[in-house]
Amino acid sequence: MLVLGIETSCDETGVALYDSTRGLLSHALFSQVDLHADYGGVVPELASRDHVRKLLPLCDEVLAAAGKQRSDLEGIAYTAGPGLVGALMVGGSVAHALGFALGIPVLGVHHMEGHLLAPMLEHSPPAFPFVALLVSGGHTQLVQVDGIGQYRLLGESVDDAAGEAFDKAAKMLGLDYPGGPRVAALAQQGRDGIYRFPRPMTDRPGLEFSFSGLKTYTLNTVAAAEQDGVLDDQVRADIARAFEAAVVDTLVIKCRRALEQTGCKRLVMAGGVSANRRLRESLETKVGQLGGSVYYARPEFCTDNGAMIAYAGCQRLLAGQQDGERIVAVPRWPMDTLPSLSEPRTNGLAD
Ligand code: KG4
Ligand code: ZN
Repeated sequence: MLVLGIETSCDETGVALYDSTRGLLSHALFSQVDLHADYGGVVPELASRDHVRKLLPLCDEVLAAAGKQRSDLEGIAYTAGPGLVGALMVGGSVAHALGFALGIPVLGVHHMEGHLLAPMLEHSPPAFPFVALLVSGGHTQLVQVDGIGQYRLLGESVDDAAGEAFDKAAKMLGLDYPGGPRVAALAQQGRDGIYRFPRPMTDRPGLEFSFSGLKTYTLNTVAAAEQDGVLDDQVRADIARAFEAAVVDTLVIKCRRALEQTGCKRLVMAGGVSANRRLRESLETKVGQLGGSVYYARPEFCTDNGAMIAYAGCQRLLAGQQDGERIVAVPRWPMDTLPSLSEPRTNGLAD
């Protein structure tokens, strides 16, 4: 089955073509980073308008790159949520219009399920069951995954997501949006052990996370260095390094705990923060010590992209799941309400 995948939930227009027998044929991405940079974050209305401008040209681009025509498509998958509702509506409208015109099934996909399954696009994909660490700009969750749509939430952040904490720390350090990769780059110039940040909620049992205290700690550390007149580039880098180490350690401690608790040996990490090199290295070492393995997608498929939506959508479309005539756009959507592949419901949402 040849599926067109469309991702427009936030500030990236991502499109891809996935074939159930041949794999990923082509993908294209337009990032709106420059558009939102002046505002220090995503402006929803500007995001929607830009998706309108870029989406159809990107669809034509991936078709041309794969030597395919619109009439070759056999299914369309789009991100139905969670995300910015106006931005979601753009992807949903284009998907439904194309699907209607071509007479092919269309399905709204859960954005985090897309992230979760992105490592399946790599050479040695993880087998089920596994524990997944989902770390993006809006989510920090540990999930027991027994199969597609068989998700049990083990723990999540009670406040900020890990990516959100990276973005806020970046602002405090005078770095531009999007902050995560910039904090990570600055941290590389930092020295170990100059500052030590707390590892929130690691001293008590459980798999919950909290990152808002770390944000306050960063703010206070930056303010104190400024007051002492020592806030130069090296000190900024030292703070970034201590911040990154605290987030990484916290995530790693909880991942190990989740593996021990579930008896699972495979850990999948997905979402924008899973592109972080120190997190990958630390998880590989610490999970390796438990005799386990870590799986993740290539960096470009860790952050938002169309390939993950095409892949996830294809699995569900093959199982016969599809939308009704209505476009689905849900800003909030718990992932554990999704149906498994053998359930007849389309997306677990009331019609
Ligand atoms: O998955 P994603 O692209 O979008 C959402 O679904 O939210 O994740 C974006 C988040 C942002 O908060 C960004 O700062 C963070 O992922 N991020 C990183 C890195 N690359 C992206 N955080 C830390 N280190 C990175 N290398
Ligand atoms: Zn995402």
